[in-house]
Amino acid sequence: SVDARVAKISSLVRTIPDFPEPGVQFRDITPLLADPDGFRETIDVLVGQLPGPIDVVVGIDSRGFLFGAPMALQMDVGFVPVRKPGKLPAPVFEEDYLLEYGSSSLNIHRDALRPGQRVLIVDDLLATGGTLGAAAKLVAREGAEIVHVETVIELAGLGGRKHLGECGVTSYSSIL
Ligand code: PRP
Ligand code: ADE
Repeated sequence: SVDARVAKISSLVRTIPDFPEPGVQFRDITPLLADPDGFRETIDVLVGQLPGPIDVVVGIDSRGFLFGAPMALQMDVGFVPVRKPGKLPAPVFEEDYLLEYGSSSLNIHRDALRPGQRVLIVDDLLATGGTLGAAAKLVAREGAEIVHVETVIELAGLGGRKHLGECGVTSYSSIL
């Protein structure tokens, strides 16, 4: 069942206190990645819970790549990376955002998406929502349509969903 799989996924995420700075409870997905059954079930659940058809997966640098790329292969659609600044070689759109710890910006290749393409945005974790909010703006600047946003983990107490406006958001391990 989905519930049993979600319980297994949650059991494979560990919490490291005070990383990368005091007061942050870091949700570490490396035990999940190291467990082939847990990792495969995570990809299966993420793909299985989608609300409708999509044309492309947009994954966020860097932990979003670990889930978004296998999902794209499983769905037989393309994968587009949203990257930290200075990494993409061709012309980009750029959006600044705030993090739970620090600030940064995200880029996407200007020619990565076509108007009207149905996009799923994937990341490992939704915290303040700054990252996914910036990614959503980048997808909108391409003229593509955000069908849904999925993350493995959501720190629900931080209220990050509000940065995502009308986009539907699904997460599997919700932590207050
Ligand atoms: C983490 C995480 C999400 C983001 C969530 O990424 O993977 O992308 O923070 O935080 P937010 O909802 O408050 O924006 P990070 O920037 O640490 O980069 P990494 O994936 O390369 O470790
Ligand atoms: N990204 C932002 N906040 C995080 C947290 N608490 N754990 C892991 N990744 C994060």
